[in-house]
Amino acid sequence: MSPSAEPVPVVALLDVTEAVLELLLSVALHDADADEVTPPLGTAEGWNTERISWFRAYHHAAAAGLDGAARQKTWAITADGELAGSIRLGRVPDGGTGRSEHDGGPASAPPGGGPGPVQPADGALETGIWLGRSFRGRGIGREALRLVTAQAVAAGARLLAAETTAGNTAAQALLRSAGAELAADGRRITARLTLG
Ligand SMILES: CC(C)(COP(=O)(O)OP(=O)(O)OC[C@H]1O[C@@H](n2cnc3c(N)ncnc32)[C@H](O)[C@@H]1OP(=O)(O)O)[C@@H](O)C(=O)NCCC(=O)NCCS
Repeated sequence: MSPSAEPVPVVALLDVTEAVLELLLSVALHDADADEVTPPLGTAEGWNTERISWFRAYHHAAAAGLDGAARQKTWAITADGELAGSIRLGRVPDGGTGRSEHDGGPASAPPGGGPGPVQPADGALETGIWLGRSFRGRGIGREALRLVTAQAVAAGARLLAAETTAGNTAAQALLRSAGAELAADGRRITARLTLG
C-alpha cells in the first residue's frame, strides 16, 4: 500500500503524560491489534487485562527516558493534532537486539546465525512503532521515524536498529524508505540505519 496522494499530515511526538496515556490506550484498543502493540500476555484472545496493565506499566516506566531504569523513552505520535500511535527509542539491552513483532517490551531470544544482533557497543539505539489502522498508509510512520531518528542522533547514537518479521511488509517498507539496511534471519528481519 502506498501513501495516498493526500498531503502528509503534520506529525509530532508528544510525551506520554497520564492524560495522553489513557487516550493512547483508547487508540490502541479501538484501532490496533493487541499483537501489534504488546507482547503475548494472558489467556484471553486479543486485548485482555494483562495486556492493558502491561501497556500502562510500560509507558510509565519509559517516562524516565533513556537513562531511567527502563532505558527507553516512548512518545505518542500525533497527526494533525490527533493521537495516531506510539514510537519508542531504547538502549540496546546487553546481549543485543532480538525483539518480537510488537512495538516494545521484553526482548525475545534471537535465533542463532544471520548477521547477529546489534550490540550496545555499536553505539546503537533501537526503535519500534505502531499506528492505529485508520492512520496507516498516509506517510505518518515515515515522519514519526524521521523525528525519532533525530532524537537518536541528539542522544549520540551512531546506529538505529529495529526488528520486524518476514511477513510485515509495511514495517519493512517503512524501514527501507528511511534508508535502513535489512537482513533476514529466518522469520526475523533486522534493520540497521547508520546515523550521521
Ligand atoms: C509499520 C507502520 C508503522 C507503517 O506506518 P505508515 O504510516 O503506514 O507508513 P507510511 O505511510 O509512512 O509509509 C512508509 C513507506 O512504507 C510503504 N508502505 C506503508 N505501508 C505499506 C504496506 N502495507 N505495504 C507495502 N508498503 C507499505 C509506503 O509506500 C512508504 O514507502 P515509500 O516511502 O517508499 O513511499 C504501520 O503499518 C503500523 O503501525 N503497522 C502495525 C504495527 C507494526 O507492524 N509496527 C512495526 C514494528 S517494527
